Amino acid sequence: MSNWDKGSYEITAAQISPAAPAVADAVEPVAGQPALDLACGTGNVALELARRGGEVTGYDGAPRLLQVAGERAAAEGLSLERVQGDLSELPFADDSFEIVTSVFGLIFTSSPQDSAAEIGRVLRPRGRVAFTSWIEEGLFQYMQDMARAAVASHFGQAPPEGSDAPFSWGDELAVRELFSESGIALQVETRELVIEEESAKELNDRWFDLHPIWITMQEMIGDAAYEEMRREALPVVESHNEAGDGSFRNTLRYLLFEGSPV
Ligand SMILES: C[S@@+](CC[C@H](N)C(=O)[O-])C[C@H]1O[C@@H](n2cnc3c(N)ncnc32)[C@H](O)[C@@H]1O
Repeated sequence: MSNWDKGSYEITAAQISPAAPAVADAVEPVAGQPALDLACGTGNVALELARRGGEVTGYDGAPRLLQVAGERAAAEGLSLERVQGDLSELPFADDSFEIVTSVFGLIFTSSPQDSAAEIGRVLRPRGRVAFTSWIEEGLFQYMQDMARAAVASHFGQAPPEGSDAPFSWGDELAVRELFSESGIALQVETRELVIEEESAKELNDRWFDLHPIWITMQEMIGDAAYEEMRREALPVVESHNEAGDGSFRNTLRYLLFEGSPV
């Protein structure tokens, strides 16, 4: 499992921040309603819900990121409860929250079944849930496949596939079925998010130098294999560049799920 406190997740948090208001719009917080933001990281969604009047709890496994979320809340004069823990087991009573959200966070759970069941348990009967996952295509998918293949090859294994493959959060039918088993009916929309950088190389280096997932991988596979991956990734990042002026721009598509208990 990645140590999300390493490096600087803050850079990625800024890049994906436009998803936060989209998720807040989906759950429409009403002042005073208890809201839980799962895998809140540095607080993008949690703060957005608090700005709209929600009584927000930010939940995450990474203590440093929770601290950053708290500092951001304090700087805006917002109240934010923070709880550290794992996505597969939520330390909250049944029916605690009117709203549960997660932006590109729930997708990291080690047990999608347990997390979906826990969301169904802590959500009130008339509550609302909204979360995002990446569509499995394009640049992010390439990087993820490359990372899985590198780790598997380091340990002398084939990349996981078939019944060994991780749950596919980009498969909207599979996600809807997962949540229907927990009594939650979901609808889904496709949205877009544009990431921009000074150049393709800058983006590649930022990921390899600073992203917690990549840094964790460097520790697993060693510096030589890691630097080879960095070199292999750069032309792929460049091939996804939509900017024509030397800077970098790429449009990523994601799924926005929203729903309620049935
Ligand atoms: C891509 S970040 C998303 C953070 C935030 N939602 C945002 O929009 O910036 C993923 C987050 O999931 C958290 N995370 C990953 N696996 C986790 C787990 N098993 N339990 C709790 N948090 C986890 C990480 O610490 C990180 O903050």
